[in-house]
Amino acid sequence: MTGGAGFIGTNFLLLMVDKYPKDRFINLDVLTYAGNLKNLTGIQERDNYTSYRTDIRDREMLEQVFKREDLEAVIHFAAESHVDRSITNPTVFAETNVIGTLNLLDLSRKYGISRYVQVSTDEVYGSLGPEGYFVEETPLNPNSPYSASKASADLFVRANVETFGLNALITRCSNNYGPYQFPEKLIPLMIWHALEDKPLPVYGDGLNVRDWLYVKDHCEAIDQVFRAGKAGEVYNIGGNNERTNLEIVKLILKILGKSEDLINFVTDRPGHDQRYAIDASRIRKQLGWEPSTSFSVGIEKTIKWYLEHEIWWREILSGEYNQYYAETYHNR
Ligand code: NAD
Ligand code: DAU
Repeated sequence: MTGGAGFIGTNFLLLMVDKYPKDRFINLDVLTYAGNLKNLTGIQERDNYTSYRTDIRDREMLEQVFKREDLEAVIHFAAESHVDRSITNPTVFAETNVIGTLNLLDLSRKYGISRYVQVSTDEVYGSLGPEGYFVEETPLNPNSPYSASKASADLFVRANVETFGLNALITRCSNNYGPYQFPEKLIPLMIWHALEDKPLPVYGDGLNVRDWLYVKDHCEAIDQVFRAGKAGEVYNIGGNNERTNLEIVKLILKILGKSEDLINFVTDRPGHDQRYAIDASRIRKQLGWEPSTSFSVGIEKTIKWYLEHEIWWREILSGEYNQYYAETYHNR
C-alpha cells in the first residue's frame, strides 16, 4: 500500500496489520509534510509489516520495490490531499496524484499485480445543490486542482481496466474524520484553535455541506472492496451524515465548552464546492458494508483523541515530527 503514514493510511494499517496477521503489509510512503511515522510505532516491529521511503513520482525508485518484493496487490492511498494547497500549488497535485498513479498502474501490470484498489474521493463528482446524491454513474465534474487530479487518476485506472484488463477497483469516499488527521483539515484545525481560544476560521457563510464518515468505517469499507469487490467496479462510500461546516464548528465548541464568539467568518475558498452527499447503496447491497460509528459517537471519540494526544499535534505544529524520520525509517 502507498501513503500509510498519512491520516487514512495510518488508520488502515493499525487496523489491518492486526486483523490479518498472515498478510504482509508493505508501506510505500515518501513522507511529505502529511506523513508521520510516529503514527506507526505500534506496528513498526511487527513481522507482517515493512516500510519503504519511496516516492511514487519516481518510477525507478518505485520499481525497486516491485522488483524486490513479491507484491500481490496494491492499495493506493498516497496523494496530495488538501484542497487549499492545490489552489496555491497545483503542480505537485498533478505530479503525485496523476503521474504517481500512472507509475503505479504501469508497474502493477508489468509485475502481474492481481488486485489494485484506487482510494479516490467524492470530490471528483463536483458540487451538488440542495437536492440529490452522487451515484457511481454521476459524471465526473471536478472543480479544484485537487479534485481534477484525483478525477484524472480515476480515469487512468478505468483505462487500465478497459484496455489492459487490470483487476482494479475505485472507491470514492466522503469526508473522513478521526484520529491522526493532519491539523490543516476542518475538524482537527477547529479543535486545535478552540483549545487555544484562537479564532475559528469559517470560510464564506459556513453553509457548505459535507457528509462526514468516521475514518475506521472508511478503512473497513476499503478492506471489503479489496477482498470482495467486483473487478472494474466503482464504489461510493459515505456516512449518510450531512452537516454544514457551521454545525460542525458549533458542535466542537459546545463539546469543548468554548464560546461561539470564537467563530470568525473569513474569505471563502475559491471554487468552494457547496455540497457533497453520497449514495452508498451499491457497497451496501453488494458487500453488506454499513458505517458503524454514528457522528455523535465519532466526534466525541475524535475530540477525546486530540485531547489525549496533544503532543502528537503540537509536534506537527512545531515541525518537530519531521525529525523522527531519519532515525526510524527502514529506508532500503
Ligand atoms: P494525507 O494527506 O493525510 O496522507 C497522504 C500520505 O501520502 C502521506 O503519508 C504522504 O507522505 C503520502 N504521499 C504524498 N505524496 C507522496 C508521494 N509522491 N509518494 C509517496 N507517498 C506520498 O491523506 P489522507 O487524508 O490520508 O487521504 C488518503 C487518500 O484518501 C487520498 O488518496 C485522498 O485523496 C483519499 N481521500 C481522503 C479523504 C479524507 O477525508 N481525508 C476522503 C476521501 C478520499
Ligand atoms: O470529500 C472528501 C475530501 O474531503 C477529500 O478528498 C479531501 O482529501 C479532504 O481534504 C476533504 O476535502 P474538503 O475540502 O471537504 O475538507 P477540508 O477539511 O479542507 O474542508 C471541509 C470544509 O470546511 C470545506 O467546506 C471547507 C471548510 N473549511 C475548511 C478549513 C480547513 C473552513 O471553513 N475553514 C477551514 O479552515
